[in-house]
Amino acid sequence: MMHTFQVKWKSPANIALIKYWGKNGHQLPANASLSMTLSEATSTTEVIFSPLQQDQGPLVQFSFEGHANEAFQQKIEHYLQYLANHEMPFLRQYHLDIRSSNSFPHSAGIASSAAFMSSLSLCLCSVEEQLQEGMGYAFFERASYIARLGSGSASRSIYGGYVSWGRSSHVPHSSDEYATPVNKRVHPAFMNYVDAIIIVSEQPKAISSSAGHRLMDNHPFHLARYRQAAIHHEDLLLCLLCNDRERFVEIVEYEALQLHALLMTSKPSYILMEPATLYAIQKVREFRKSTGIPICFTLDAGPNIHLLYANEYKDAVEEFIRNQIIPGMTQTVRIMFDRLGNGPEQLFFKNIG
Ligand code: DP6
Repeated sequence: MMHTFQVKWKSPANIALIKYWGKNGHQLPANASLSMTLSEATSTTEVIFSPLQQDQGPLVQFSFEGHANEAFQQKIEHYLQYLANHEMPFLRQYHLDIRSSNSFPHSAGIASSAAFMSSLSLCLCSVEEQLQEGMGYAFFERASYIARLGSGSASRSIYGGYVSWGRSSHVPHSSDEYATPVNKRVHPAFMNYVDAIIIVSEQPKAISSSAGHRLMDNHPFHLARYRQAAIHHEDLLLCLLCNDRERFVEIVEYEALQLHALLMTSKPSYILMEPATLYAIQKVREFRKSTGIPICFTLDAGPNIHLLYANEYKDAVEEFIRNQIIPGMTQTVRIMFDRLGNGPEQLFFKNIG
């Protein structure tokens, strides 16, 4: 007798400190990456799994904030069909009604795919676990693996704190197939970090992630990039362990600028920073120099700026943002204060017969 299940998870976004940029095979990273899981920027996804008469599934109905979304619906159908064929055969027997929403405005320019894919994969794995069809993986490891197949960075949004994804001789049990939390090796001084996100532009992404990763395939600098990413990954882990904030700042900013340097020197070339991005970067560097506060910036593949700093500098940094960043901006900006978070949360699981 097959059952109807209703399951709901809330998952956070994450911001990469060591960037995942370039992939191999099926969703495998070209280099190990490392991120900070956020707290406030989250996606909440509820899935109702209803049994079908025949194995004609997965049939999918998707809505985002109460509205159908045709483009995303197709992407999800494709992903779930892949899972049904290769990973989760039980999906063939179900209709999935998927309803998702975000805690942050859709246009905020924050990568929401990681949070969404994390919450969806946790819903799938909860049912898989209930049906006892898991493959002997630990639950979160499996969820990270399944999330990775939907979006690489989503594999890191399965855990709280600092998370590494990709094979590295410096992270025990690390794998290209799923992410691993590294909090046990992080100095307590790094556990109260703030991420002040300055939304410079609310335009949709100029380039999709998958197209962006493909730019690395024939990139003239790709070997140098992967070699350096491995060194940065190892060095950043050491900074987190030893509370070396100076080197942390150096590596994190270098990674952000290298991502953009790679984009600028791709074919075709992309310049995703805007004048306001550069303005804020200059101001952050001046502020750091004059105050000695170890604040740094990072960027995703877009113009918005993430300012990272320990909570003890909160007052000084907020004043700096108010008095020195905002007045110099030529366009209206929005600031979102986020911080290191604890990872996903299951809101409910019901077997409704
Ligand atoms: C620049 O995880 O969005 O944010 O695997 O194609 O879904 P897909 O890519 P995605 O790439 C994220 C790229 C990045 C850096 C990072 O988050 O590591």
